[in-house]
Amino acid sequence: MRVSIDFGPARGWRSFSAVSYRCACAWLLGTILGTTRPAPVALAADPAKVDFNFQIRPLLSDRCFKCHGPDEKARKAKLRLDLREGILKELEDGWAVVKPGNPAKSEMVRRIFATDEDDLMPPAKSNLKLSVAEKELLKGFT
Ligand code: HEC
Repeated sequence: MRVSIDFGPARGWRSFSAVSYRCACAWLLGTILGTTRPAPVALAADPAKVDFNFQIRPLLSDRCFKCHGPDEKARKAKLRLDLREGILKELEDGWAVVKPGNPAKSEMVRRIFATDEDDLMPPAKSNLKLSVAEKELLKGFT
């Protein structure tokens, strides 16, 4: 049997109202519990979201900027990880350095988890390393 649900032309509106209904619930609950602050609904919706400025940037700064930072002379692969444009830089075949929402197409993720020493970032001979938890953190940020 084929089950078909006809969302019709009202679909966008319906899903919108479903979302705001949920937000309203969260807001109400927050008000009752006294935890609601006027600011970020988006953050409240995803408390597990990794914070770029506090968690990611310091890590990149420590392990990557030596070769992918502000110092032009030391910069490798013309890649800057201190700038948003560099982090989001598009590569070939639909890949990007970091492809938001798609770690499978994020070269950064491929590089930090690489088992081939030629691909691994930071390079083994740099004596810089990422722990498994740090790799997962970076992956979670994509
Ligand atoms: C000691 C220097 C050094 C450090 C530190 C380093 N890299 Fe690299 N990186 C390189 C070099 C050299 C290349 C170019 C050769 C290659 O592709 O392997 C490169 C290439 C890359 C590329 C590929 C860029 C492209 O255009 O395809 C990515 C992504 C990358 N690095 C990410 C990182 C990340 C993330 C870190 C920190 C966790 C890091 N690198 C730390 C030297 C470094």
